[in-house]
Amino acid sequence: MGNGTETRPMIEAEGLVKHYGQTRALAGIDFAVPAGTILGLLGPNGAGKSTAVRILTTLALPDAGRATVAGIDVVKHPGEVRRYFGLAAQDATLDPLLTGRQNLMIVGELSGMRRAVSRTRAAELLTQFDLLDAADRVSKGYSGGMRRRLDLAASLMTRPPVLFLDEPTTGLDPTGRQMVWDAIRELLRDGVTILLTTQYLEEADALANRIVVVDHGTVIAEGTPHELKEASRSAHVEVTLAAPHADAEGAIAPLVVGRVHASDDGRRLSAGVDATSGLATALVRQLDAAGVLVDNIEVRRPSLDDVFLALTGGRIADDGADRDDDGSRPRGRADDHEVREVRS
Ligand SMILES: Nc1ncnc2c1ncn2[C@@H]1O[C@H](COP(=O)(O)OP(=O)(O)OP(=O)(O)O)[C@@H](O)[C@H]1O
Ligand SMILES: [Mg+2]
Repeated sequence: MGNGTETRPMIEAEGLVKHYGQTRALAGIDFAVPAGTILGLLGPNGAGKSTAVRILTTLALPDAGRATVAGIDVVKHPGEVRRYFGLAAQDATLDPLLTGRQNLMIVGELSGMRRAVSRTRAAELLTQFDLLDAADRVSKGYSGGMRRRLDLAASLMTRPPVLFLDEPTTGLDPTGRQMVWDAIRELLRDGVTILLTTQYLEEADALANRIVVVDHGTVIAEGTPHELKEASRSAHVEVTLAAPHADAEGAIAPLVVGRVHASDDGRRLSAGVDATSGLATALVRQLDAAGVLVDNIEVRRPSLDDVFLALTGGRIADDGADRDDDGSRPRGRADDHEVREVRS
């Protein structure tokens, strides 16, 4: 990114720094999302993902750095910038005493939609997210997954060109997740620019054009899902023999990286490999030439999970030391802007 020839990014963060007391939530992070694409912001708990989203959506002020949405500076022109994006925050921001339909219609009307238009749009979204049956019940009684879906629907009321989705599928069952994925793909087809945070690497792999991996408030890796997998390109091979054979290890040694490990019964050999094409054939040839009978060969390319674990040193969850005293998710503080009326 940033060779100057491509179109201006729709979302841009430059050197964002944010402290909460002694905690450094962001230590200077940079990323950019070109128009019409989706960026996956990945990182363990406490990495700083929501903090970045809060700054970009004018809910928190950065200590340093710059952020723009649709080319507009979010600190200098928060009111203007709010017209361009929808937000489905990690913590639901719905009114529990209103029905699903009322929640959606209020979002529409607060952002200037005519009542009739707002009603039609709400009905459309309630249908899309399978909430029609519950539409006229107060959202307090919704299940977690239903609330997540309503939250997402609310962020889409005004068809914003930019969308921030902070862990939109956390807590959803497989059907709910599929529904959200379908909605995201449809939005991309319509040209919407999306910043998505997720704990599900599979989700980033499935949806994101680019992924930025964040840990301790800094970007530790960046690329397409494919590039990230290639970066830790060494794959793994496991060979199952029909019977143990003294020459088996020696036969495959020239084709692998590092040592060959044999299982206790000598029937399974495993080793790291460069995942070149034709590798399985080459292994079988070598073993065959040595008179070794092979039952099975499995070459496993690294999954995004492997990459993620390698990058973050296996730390999926933080130690909780940075959390507020009651261990709950941190809430807004005095320096945060007003949170309610942001859905524009
Ligand atoms: N309002 C706040 N007050 C105090 N500390 C905060 C506040 N918001 C965030 N933090 C701290 O900043 C760090 C980054 O938090 P953030 O919520 O951005 O992480 P995250 O990547 O979204 O994590 P998760 O995956 O759990 O949602 C954490 O250490 C967190 O405890
Ligand atoms: Mg978060």
